[in-house]
Amino acid sequence: MKKPWAGRFKESTASSVEDFTESISFDWRLWPYDIEGSIAHTRMLAHQGILKKNEAKEIISGLKEIHKEIEQGVFQWKKELEDVHMNIEHSLIEKIGPIGGKLHTARSRNDQIALDLRLYLRDTTREIIKGIKSFQKRLLSVAEKEAETIMPGYTHLQHAQPVVLAQHLLAYVEMFQRDRERYEDGLKRIDTMPLGACALAGTTLPTDRTYLARILKFKRVAENSMDAVSDRDFIIEFLSASAIMMMHFSRLSEELILWATEEFSFIDLPDAYTTGSSIMPQKKNPDVLELIRGKTGRVYGSLMSLLTTMKALPLTYNRDLQEDKIPLFDTVDTIRAVLSIMTEMFPRIRFNRKRMREASTEGYTLATDIAEYLVMKGLPFRQAHEVTGQIVRYAIERGKGLEELSVQELKGFSSLIEDDIRDILDVEKAIRRRKSRGATSPSEIKKQIQRYKRML
Ligand code: ARG
Repeated sequence: MKKPWAGRFKESTASSVEDFTESISFDWRLWPYDIEGSIAHTRMLAHQGILKKNEAKEIISGLKEIHKEIEQGVFQWKKELEDVHMNIEHSLIEKIGPIGGKLHTARSRNDQIALDLRLYLRDTTREIIKGIKSFQKRLLSVAEKEAETIMPGYTHLQHAQPVVLAQHLLAYVEMFQRDRERYEDGLKRIDTMPLGACALAGTTLPTDRTYLARILKFKRVAENSMDAVSDRDFIIEFLSASAIMMMHFSRLSEELILWATEEFSFIDLPDAYTTGSSIMPQKKNPDVLELIRGKTGRVYGSLMSLLTTMKALPLTYNRDLQEDKIPLFDTVDTIRAVLSIMTEMFPRIRFNRKRMREASTEGYTLATDIAEYLVMKGLPFRQAHEVTGQIVRYAIERGKGLEELSVQELKGFSSLIEDDIRDILDVEKAIRRRKSRGATSPSEIKKQIQRYKRML
């Protein structure tokens, strides 16, 4: 097949080179954006008198026909035509004849691919932002139900202080809020119109890029023609926001995997979202969560892959840039799937409130409360810490919990300890006392939930 660029070549392309250089096997999915861009470009050319009205009409109706054919699955993609751009343009010329050859006036595949990617990523980012919001809503509604579920809070994966489950879940709502903001911020730079930069230097033809930006609903025009065709920062930012979000999903998955173990027994995962073992009949494995944790590595890899591709590229377009698409598409597919399956699964997790409550005081989690009690009675914190440490050691030596020590025993450690120490060792009251801003008391939990209800 004769290439659109064959004019200066004596030999035809080696078939190994066609295999090696093609991108149609993966960039075909940009077709709706490629056609949208071509229609806008045609309108601009007609608006500027570069094309006649009837020529533009013919080109646009040809493009619309191609749109239908692709949608109906009857369009034949050809590897010999390299990429999505040349496949569509070639088919247009086949359909409407030499007038179709006017479409590529004042345009290069370099600005065309930059445009397609921006249109694609603008839609995709908006969809992902909505997806994060839905997931946050699910987290929030579970948090509301678990506002009184007391559990141990951990540092170093050791029992630290009691919290409520809602507080733990709201921490994730916060994390995903930052993710959403990162995508929203990236959207500002994605929303920049590169078309009309042509290959790199602009054009001698009287185009109007501002008009193009307006009809394609872009907020900004890429202001430098060389930057316009060589910039992939917007994809790197997208991959970076995705890598950070996957890290959040991976942490959440890891916690749920731990909580589902026999040792923790904090949760029961829904049957529909777990898998069995081919040999051990009793098994119910958290494979979905493990795969989310595992796929995080792939998304990190995509970010590193594109950063590495870009790191020594001279201006402007180099074919290396074609390697941006596979990591991008793979990441989009991954985060779409992760968002959707987590949003489905999360509300169906059963929390074992009784077990969490029991665990909440195991491991001397109220020791800090005793130290703060002594502080309120006037003891410097360092001394209060020391005295409480002695109480803990005493309890450990006798194999008792703090709440199992008698007031008499406790009084032996400091003359400041009085009968009101009983209240300090009541975990429900301990939760209510943590009233500082953003803490785990019911009043602060309520404020956090209200705030997110307004935002979401
Ligand atoms: N398939 C190419 C890519 O993905 C499109 C741009 C090609 N431009 C060129 N001059 N070879 O980047």
